[in-house]
Amino acid sequence: SDRPRALSGIQPTAGSFHLGNYLGAVRQYVALQETHDAFYMVVDLHAITVPQDPAELRANTRLAAAQLLAAGLDPQRCTLFVQSHVPEHAQLAWVMNCITGFGEASRMTQFKDKSAKQGTDRATVGLFTYPVLQVADILLYQADSVPVGEDQRQHVELTRDLAERFNTRFGPTFTVPAPHIVKEVAKIYDLQDPTIKMSKSASTPKGLINLLDEPKATAKKIRSAVTDTGSEIVFDTAAKPGVSNLLTVYSTLTGATIAELEQKYEGKGYGALKTDLADVVVDFVTPFRARTQEYLDDPETLDSILAGGAEKARTVAGETLAQTYDRVGF
Ligand code: ADP
Ligand code: NA
Repeated sequence: SDRPRALSGIQPTAGSFHLGNYLGAVRQYVALQETHDAFYMVVDLHAITVPQDPAELRANTRLAAAQLLAAGLDPQRCTLFVQSHVPEHAQLAWVMNCITGFGEASRMTQFKDKSAKQGTDRATVGLFTYPVLQVADILLYQADSVPVGEDQRQHVELTRDLAERFNTRFGPTFTVPAPHIVKEVAKIYDLQDPTIKMSKSASTPKGLINLLDEPKATAKKIRSAVTDTGSEIVFDTAAKPGVSNLLTVYSTLTGATIAELEQKYEGKGYGALKTDLADVVVDFVTPFRARTQEYLDDPETLDSILAGGAEKARTVAGETLAQTYDRVGF
């Protein structure tokens, strides 16, 4: 294929994807299938950087793959696989670990946040070196473009730095990738605290929209989202972060522009916006849940899609690893 390459991954840890994962990342995966030679994976190696239950991890890995397919990934148009099925990820990660500075890795803000939460003594070396595994994930596929949310920008920057460092030291080997971050949806905020990002670790249950939750419960969460003082429905992230977040979700799921929505709700209260948005979200999650269940109910199809994906992925990853090993002197 002479199309540019895209690569991204999503963790299986939480079970259900949340609205931030979908709008910030997965929606872009689906779009890039049409223009890129796209590789997407469920990053189960990343999932064991925190304690995991083996049966739960296995089930959640399949669940994540089912959700990616339900969201619109098409195995005819992209390569979908599970990270641990491609051993080259761990192999390249070791090489990249050996050209990463300890201080450089220590500056990764996600590590600082997550290890602070767990206590430095309980945080693992795996959690520390997680961004370097992510570097290997991207470089193995010679990716040009990495669709992610804003929280991953620093890791893509690290990937660029390490690719350039390796290329300078050992000769041209890796494509230097760029993040593909869609500004409008790069950070979807918590429904109860619109100053923090919606996230499975930091959000309270009421602030987090899991796509696989009961639609009725989801509708209720949207209707009780925190809105701002005043009553006017205008997009203003500084003065009205809650309303702006709701408008972003509404606009992205329906295709209506923010200006059209502001006009539609002129003179109406926050209640009207939230009631309508609850319907919009329910109309999205209902078929999404049904499609996810269809893939889970057909394990043979799911397994064969993932096996085919791993085979295609290994062809590319194997070539990059062989060249890298040769360059370093193996
Ligand atoms: P989480 O951030 O909840 O731990 P992941 O790390 O698996 O989930 O993230 C998967 C993808 O979803 C990443 O590309 C990440 O940038 C994106 N993402 C996560 N949360 C949000 C959010 N609130 N808004 C936009 N994108 C997000
Ligand atoms: Na994240």
